Amino acid sequence: MVIDFSNRKNRFITLEEIPEEYIQDINNRTLSDEYYPTYHIAPAHGLLNDPNGLTFHNGEHHIFYQWFPLGPVHGLKHWYHLSTKNFVDFEDHGVALYPDNHYDRQGCFSGGALSINEDLYLYYTGNRRNEDGEFEQVQCLAIQRNNGKIQKIGPIIKHDPELTTLNFRDPVPFRRNQKTYLMVGGENLNHEGTILLYQQKGESASYLNQLQLQVGEFGNMWECPSYFEEDKHGVLIFSPQGVTSEDPMEFNNVFSVVYFIGDPIDFELGVFHHDAYVELDKGFDFYAPQVYTDATNRHILMGWLGNSKSEYPTDKNMWAHMLTIPREIRIKNRVLQQVPLEELKGLRKERKELLSTQELVDKAFEVDGTLEKSFSFEISNELGENLRFYSTGEHYVLDRSETSELHAERFGVVRHAVRNLTYNQDIRIFIDTSSIELFLEDGTIVFTSRFFLKGQWRIKVNGMTGSLYPLSSILIK
Ligand code: FRU
Repeated sequence: MVIDFSNRKNRFITLEEIPEEYIQDINNRTLSDEYYPTYHIAPAHGLLNDPNGLTFHNGEHHIFYQWFPLGPVHGLKHWYHLSTKNFVDFEDHGVALYPDNHYDRQGCFSGGALSINEDLYLYYTGNRRNEDGEFEQVQCLAIQRNNGKIQKIGPIIKHDPELTTLNFRDPVPFRRNQKTYLMVGGENLNHEGTILLYQQKGESASYLNQLQLQVGEFGNMWECPSYFEEDKHGVLIFSPQGVTSEDPMEFNNVFSVVYFIGDPIDFELGVFHHDAYVELDKGFDFYAPQVYTDATNRHILMGWLGNSKSEYPTDKNMWAHMLTIPREIRIKNRVLQQVPLEELKGLRKERKELLSTQELVDKAFEVDGTLEKSFSFEISNELGENLRFYSTGEHYVLDRSETSELHAERFGVVRHAVRNLTYNQDIRIFIDTSSIELFLEDGTIVFTSRFFLKGQWRIKVNGMTGSLYPLSSILIK
């Protein structure tokens, strides 16, 4: 059975309408794909996009993600749920939210979660087609009780046509002084991005204000806000659509992600005094990240290791995308640092010396090294096809122009970032079959990308010493 997704109607076929053999077939194709990751969360079939509802709840990290089960396209979205104590062993809870109510019939879109006593509150966007055939979005609440059962409460925030266009989504909660505030992304009537603030009381929420940011022209739709506070700072992250730049060092993706550091937000007034925004990631494939805080007060970020306008070679095997590795977020001197979560060391199998050339058996490994002023890191195959990351001093370059399966070339094949540190500098690299995550300058510069390189791998390094750790797979049960 083949579903023609170019006919958009077919993107709204429900799981129940599909024979079991179809699911079996796309699941087999997905899991046998040579590019399927080993220690990143990826869908068993179909398309994964944003992380949702990231929370620490009842002693575990809870991770949900946007999922379209039937193929590698954006269709009818579900929330899929996993949890873990250590980021090595995961429990698979299956689908948490099905698009099965009149207010979310065309999709349970993104949102956040809040752990309150034994309950987990899930805030999400109900996407539904209105009488005019347009998609309308309402913000909904569902509660997972401690017996694991999820009860949908229903819409708590309706769309207000005086405030935004029909682009109005991605509610995330923030608790302060026993009050629950919600931030919702949107497009205002002048077609500029905006974030609307609400206060939740029981099963409804009242509108407070629009968040005022000092940004000038900055895209037309702000998706997936995420907010936390650290040591008297307020840190806001969101994903603006429509921000581009001619500068090769900045905003080269179709959709980008930015962060702002400032004073804590005044939710009632919508006031946020903040520093200039900074692009959060310099790679090709990074979007819609969320940050949550765990029991030890670490702020942990995960993002979508993908990007909605690109086609990927895995599409033919009926799956697309994965989540990034979890990263601890630290704020130092009003700059945001991303550090691979400590627990990931639990995946290390053994330590090897990083040699100037070495053949690799594993396509899942970590490099922890020190850089010289001029350095290069290259993964190549027997045909000489390769992925390269290098610098001669002024800036970093990630070059996927010579990988085996070029894709999304119309968005460029190299990415850059300005380099500030040229001596005694650490680098951490996480490779997983078809993804690379690079952490530089104490995690203030990060590149996150997919790449598709066939065959037997060899790595070559120059101006770089350190260790290489083959990594084991995560276990999902
Ligand atoms: C971001 C996004 C969100 C939306 C979700 C739908 O990637 O467009 O704004 O809620 O994906 O899957």
